Amino acid sequence: MEELVLFEKIENIQILKINRPKRLNALNRETVDLIDERIEEIKKDKEIRALIITGDHHFAAGADISDMIEKTPEEAKAFLFTNTFSKLEHIELPTIAAICGYALGGGLELALACDLRIASEDAQLGLPEINLGIMPGAGGTVRLPRLIGEAKAKELIYLGGRLTASEAYQYGIVNRVVKKEELMAEAFKMAKKLAEKAPLALRAAKEAILYGGDRTKTEALSRESEIWSGLFASQDQKEGMRAFLEKRTPQYQSK
Ligand code: HXC
Repeated sequence: MEELVLFEKIENIQILKINRPKRLNALNRETVDLIDERIEEIKKDKEIRALIITGDHHFAAGADISDMIEKTPEEAKAFLFTNTFSKLEHIELPTIAAICGYALGGGLELALACDLRIASEDAQLGLPEINLGIMPGAGGTVRLPRLIGEAKAKELIYLGGRLTASEAYQYGIVNRVVKKEELMAEAFKMAKKLAEKAPLALRAAKEAILYGGDRTKTEALSRESEIWSGLFASQDQKEGMRAFLEKRTPQYQSK
């Protein structure tokens, strides 16, 4: 049987590819469990500097509807992907969703748990759950309004329509749109750029942004000050600033 999730490391970039093409990469429990296992492996691998999540021809056409249809409320709760997607959101390295084809429902929610999103011109994004008599349940009602504002998020969630890649760019859902054949190269280029940055500083920035998203402005500012000043205990901070003053490229040690 084909592997549902392909896992490839190129240099210090990890690529995770959903591979269930006959179902347009619809996410069944097994696929999400495999994604979860892979996230645990990535957390242990200190070499990895960035993660790209993508799918074969399509990103993912949502949660698997045939898996969900007969579920009771308790079973539906157990089926949810929230824990895995939150684990992904909090992983201590930068993550990029490279989106081609459909990114719908739980598929888009997976992409929303990534730090950055690049879409190819053929991509179609949406939260069509309303058309199935449900609503987004794996972060869509939470992450999307925070990302693009309530008005646009409500439009997508209430009407259940789909956006083209360029509309998704205008909405602020994706960071950039590229030609289909260039998607992985562009995602890799961005990942390499991220991999060159000071890892501790990137991790700190991510932590401060995540913390701030959950708190009042005053609490967030206070935590930002703490995280920021904590970085001055790192060799990478000294190296980054020294390299600037000495007009050379910094060599970061993740220390
Ligand atoms: C199960 C799916 C699927 C899905 C596609 N397929 N999406 N199976 N769950 N989410 C299957 C189809 O049944 C079909 O199987 C095959 O994949 C190819 O799809 P087609 O529909 O024939 O392709 P096409 O006509 O090109 O239409 C593509 C599509 C459509 C527009 C993406 O498939 C579609 O609307 N899919 C459902 C999208 C959706 O509603 N997603 C949200 C799910 S709810 P056969 O056997 O006929 O070849 C959700 C909740 C998340 O995500 C909450 C967290 C758990």
